Amino acid sequence: MTAALAVNPAPAPAPARDGDTTSVWAAEVASSEWPRLEADAAADVCVVGAGIAGLTTAYLLAREGRSVIVIDDKAPGDGQTSRTSAHLSAVLDDGLGRLERLHGLDGLRLAVASHAAAIDLIDSICASESIECGFRRVDEYIFAPLDKREELDHELEVARRAGLDVEMVPRAPLDRDTGPCLRFRRQAQFQPLAYLAGLVRLITRSGGQIHGRTHADTITGGETATVQTGHGPIITARAVVVATNVPVNDLAVIHTKQSAYRSYVIGARVAKGAVTEALYSDTLDPYHYVRVHPGSGHDTLVIGGEDHKTGQDPHPETRWDRLTTWAREWFPMMGEVEYRWSGQIVEPVDGLAFIGRNPADRDNVYVATGDSGHGLTHGTIAGLLLTDLIQGRDNPWAKLYDPSRRTLRAIKEFASENLNVAAHYADWLKRGDVASADDIAPGQGAVVRHGLKLIATYVDESGGRHECSAACPHLGGVVQWNPAERTWDCPCHGSRFDPYGRVVEGPAISDLSQVDKDPG
Ligand code: FES
Repeated sequence: MTAALAVNPAPAPAPARDGDTTSVWAAEVASSEWPRLEADAAADVCVVGAGIAGLTTAYLLAREGRSVIVIDDKAPGDGQTSRTSAHLSAVLDDGLGRLERLHGLDGLRLAVASHAAAIDLIDSICASESIECGFRRVDEYIFAPLDKREELDHELEVARRAGLDVEMVPRAPLDRDTGPCLRFRRQAQFQPLAYLAGLVRLITRSGGQIHGRTHADTITGGETATVQTGHGPIITARAVVVATNVPVNDLAVIHTKQSAYRSYVIGARVAKGAVTEALYSDTLDPYHYVRVHPGSGHDTLVIGGEDHKTGQDPHPETRWDRLTTWAREWFPMMGEVEYRWSGQIVEPVDGLAFIGRNPADRDNVYVATGDSGHGLTHGTIAGLLLTDLIQGRDNPWAKLYDPSRRTLRAIKEFASENLNVAAHYADWLKRGDVASADDIAPGQGAVVRHGLKLIATYVDESGGRHECSAACPHLGGVVQWNPAERTWDCPCHGSRFDPYGRVVEGPAISDLSQVDKDPG
């Protein structure tokens, strides 16, 4: 990796990180430093990515006696698992009717069953391994505005066909009347980072190794697969699992079939018991989702929504304001907003994750990506499915989640997403966000045109100027400044970089490149 050029002397930048915001989960469970891998190592399976997908896979394999090494750029749980709103639901939010259209009734039933199995697995691991993460079963309520109530009738029919335990009830248990809504039994919630801390303990207790600050530069499949780390050591393994939210070992195949979105979350204090513990969502577009996170002296109301495509909103900070306005209408008892954060949602064109053998790769390289807003259950499904594949067992979900699949009924969505990406390459013709770097306020960034080049320019709080090429190293999109998270976000496939140009989120695997010292 290359460091961004500091044009003026400035304090050394902090380590690359994803934005300035903190989730309620990360505030409660301190992230700990994990030792970097310092020498070559070997294991049955190397897992790249220490979020819920990677750690569940590592845990299940270790439970079956496989040796595992897990590596991550950061520390366990520091990626998107810390940025979820932590709903555990088998009620897929792309719409059950849409999923039935795309995958048929059998596919929908399998999808719903797999998410229910994921929740059951988390439940059983928490119980059998004594993980204290507040796991509890709750009902889920979905309500609609008056003019869209017939959509609920349709979803009710499809949900019953899919095998969900669902009924229409007169209203959700909220102070404000929602009108008739769907109630789904036995969904769940938990503290995701407390759960991951439990998995980490179990993996290491079984002899598994976990290494932070260890970047996978190159992943090569074959009889003996290898993972070349950025700082030197090589891991050899019989199989490699890439569970990095978006695969870092694939340039294009999967990225044309999924798109990156930002979703926004706020957390506000409410009196204990003021809001009934349940999962709530509406059917607006973009929709809102709500849950209660119980605390000792008070509860925290967690409200999310206001999604948009990554890198395609110049003022994403207004999304939190809109969320707050919506929340105060529905929950007037809500106190001050104490947390606000955003997370990356990766939406496959056909609504289901890609889990299995990496397309166009050797048979022992596996991927898990495309959370579709259900990253915790999709990540847990990945653990179950990939463990079966690596152990040579059949799995009934393998075809449904096959990363090589082409869902012909999703051709319209595929074309629309890729047209959107293509349109953003025209950004190379733009004049720049500001006429000159002098127009950039401290703590902010903007793209500035220098002749034929577009320069991603960040001015730190001390006035130091940091300049990188605005060309995304993935496939050449023009990055956009995100003032809400203080990151550079690519509108094409969602790669993200810190203010100094260091990659924090793929599919890019390298930093924005330095500009010449003398651009003139
Ligand atoms: Fe693909 Fe930037 S993420 S071009």
